[in-house]
Amino acid sequence: MGAQSFSVTVPATTANLGPGYDSLGLALSLYTTIDVSSADEWLVQYEGEEYQSLATGEDNLIVQTIQDIAKRYKKVIPPQKLTVQSNIPLGKGLGSSATAIAAGIEIVDHLLSLDLSPKMKVRIGSELEGHADNVSAALLGGVTISYFVEEEMEIVHLPEPDVGAVILVPPHALKTEESRGLLPGELTHAEATAGSAASNLLTAAIAQNDWEMAGRMMEKDIFHEPYRKKLFPNFDEVRAMSKSCGAYGMTISGAGPSLFVVVPKGTEETLAKQLAVAFPYYKCLAVQPSTHGAGVNCTHK
Ligand code: HSE
Repeated sequence: MGAQSFSVTVPATTANLGPGYDSLGLALSLYTTIDVSSADEWLVQYEGEEYQSLATGEDNLIVQTIQDIAKRYKKVIPPQKLTVQSNIPLGKGLGSSATAIAAGIEIVDHLLSLDLSPKMKVRIGSELEGHADNVSAALLGGVTISYFVEEEMEIVHLPEPDVGAVILVPPHALKTEESRGLLPGELTHAEATAGSAASNLLTAAIAQNDWEMAGRMMEKDIFHEPYRKKLFPNFDEVRAMSKSCGAYGMTISGAGPSLFVVVPKGTEETLAKQLAVAFPYYKCLAVQPSTHGAGVNCTHK
């Protein structure tokens, strides 16, 4: 068994980046850190008011992930105390549930010395989350492009996106299921063709770190933006102002309710301040890509 006292750090993520629906993810420089130590029973303690609504026992998502994976590998895992600190807005489209799942994967991998490969971690995380975009980026960092369809998993990892970003976070949370419920059951062949063309070009541009092209393609999503944009106050105005201030593009962060603006590296602080003045409804966060994903820090306390 691994060291008895250690911590795990996991980044926030934004998913989709427009037409990369359920496939593209980008890790961001907001983090959850979990101190892990052995205990008599499972206990999760969250620091910060925003997280106080979450379950603190065996019904907690991190604990459920740990126990699910231990069971898959036919191992017994002793109870742990998890102390969680986070600056990732909860339920705001920044992958907080994927962060919890990624944390659980790293914790159980370490405690039981499972030595899971990165691809196996991504597969298990995608099975637990139901889609691969956020959890892949949370586990690996950088940009991830995933194919997770009918149990088949393929992934390409682009570790060093050279770009900045602003996240506009509204005061209310939004359940992913509710946001997914707004989407149509079917698209026409012509719509799917246009959507995948935008997604193909988006991905190729990101692979070349051509964020100017990527930003334009981000705004050509037809898979989900048209059905979800009504949830976002001032959607068109935020996009227009961001572009006039030099942003490459703006889109929904994951399933929402936050917005994601991609900007030339180094300009994120300035744009965040400008957007905060113009759209006080949103809290505007200047962020960078996280080039590292979930990882264990051994403290051997
Ligand atoms: N791809 C997902 C969606 C991200 O847009 O619903 C949220 O987890």
